[in-house]
Amino acid sequence: MRRLAVIGTGYVGLVTGSCFADIGNQVICCDIDASKIEKLNQGIIPIYEPGLQEMVVNNQAEGRLAFTTNIAEAVKQSDIIYIAVGTPMSPHGEADLTYIYAAAKSIAEAMQDYKIIVIKSTVPVGTGRSVQMLIAEHTPHPFDMVSNPEFLREGSALKDCMSMERAVIGATHSRAADAIEELHAPFRTLVYRTSLESAEMIKYAANAFLATKISFINEIANLCEETGANVAEVSTGMGLDSRIGSQFLQAGIGYGGSCFPKDTEALRFICSKSGVSSRLINAVIETNAKQRYVVLNKLQHALGNMQGRTIAVLGLAFKPNTDDMRYAPSVDLIPELVARGAHVKAYDPIALDEAKKWIQEDILYTQDMYEAVADADACLILTEWDQVKSMDLARLYSLMRQAVIVDGRNCFSLDEMSSHGFYYSSIGRAVVHSQLEVGIG
Ligand code: UDX
Repeated sequence: MRRLAVIGTGYVGLVTGSCFADIGNQVICCDIDASKIEKLNQGIIPIYEPGLQEMVVNNQAEGRLAFTTNIAEAVKQSDIIYIAVGTPMSPHGEADLTYIYAAAKSIAEAMQDYKIIVIKSTVPVGTGRSVQMLIAEHTPHPFDMVSNPEFLREGSALKDCMSMERAVIGATHSRAADAIEELHAPFRTLVYRTSLESAEMIKYAANAFLATKISFINEIANLCEETGANVAEVSTGMGLDSRIGSQFLQAGIGYGGSCFPKDTEALRFICSKSGVSSRLINAVIETNAKQRYVVLNKLQHALGNMQGRTIAVLGLAFKPNTDDMRYAPSVDLIPELVARGAHVKAYDPIALDEAKKWIQEDILYTQDMYEAVADADACLILTEWDQVKSMDLARLYSLMRQAVIVDGRNCFSLDEMSSHGFYYSSIGRAVVHSQLEVGIG
């Protein structure tokens, strides 16, 4: 059992703190936001993440997990301090490290003995060293720095943490690496030890590589549409090669969320600062920025004119099982639909409240998918929620004014769409035309 402080109760801090408590450690999570801490103390979780609420409440009840605004006290009580504050994108694409340095200073000022200070947040290479210098300037006490990046996916973060594939540990001293490796023992994971700098780089390189796979398959998807190939078959065929792997080859409307857009931009910024070419990463970002608009062209093509048309948008969150709207395609596409004169009815099983903060347009929100599609001229699928994928297609057909579906997530097979009589346009696959006349009325 170790005594841990986790600074920052955002997505990463909360999941990390809860999981470390769940495997038997004494964890105190800190945040400067008093109202957030007050809610967490009442068991109210600020984000939607399957299983997190139960895990927080159970560990609070068992006395292993606590929340406080008193960072100094938390630091004094702990041997290991995790920094998990946000590193948002600044206007130039650079990671904003204001919260990292503020946390580092608070830790240094509270230290009374040896501590292991671990950076969990995604930070540019070299940040660990500058934090080390900053802390050393503000305390006479000994400490070691560690970089232990997170690889959690929203929506499956608890599973990703409890059965993590690997833990990357970059430390300034082997005694700190030993301690962090020991902390991870209950996860029975592969531990990979590196330098501080390599650990920081691994996080950016891993995310940029995954983003590259997505932009690559999206470019192939666009080519499939022009050449008659089917991208689902192409990605399956490619993925059978173990050197390529089948994951992250799902064509669609591109990546969103809190990590890939921010981390690819940050990597591009690091390249330009270091005088290193970022041609590949530039292309990944550019392809992704364009990809989300592909579905608008498909909709325009199907309907002819959007003026006065009712469009049911199915799915608002950037991906299923989260209410996260950061860089969600819906945030760009709904204003565009409204600007083109469409009436939008938007459905999402979880993200409606969050979506209202991001989408200023006057649209109709509904938690009932069938209410959204009733009398719609077209459905636009933006998130592959299970509810959307398992929709009653006969009912959908009977409710819609025109049976037109534009699917940015390839939720359905071409055969089932054809047999139900839909006009169905997806990504990287042939358009299914029914007898239905579209573009009129
Ligand atoms: C990602 C990384 O997976 C995780 O390791 C890191 O720590 C944080 O960033 P997350 O953003 O939660 O996690 O979601 P992820 O499931 O990776 O999806 C990211 C985006 O890529 C989503 O918009 C998703 O729709 C898109 N995506 C993913 C595709 O378009 N195609 C794919 O094949 C996979």
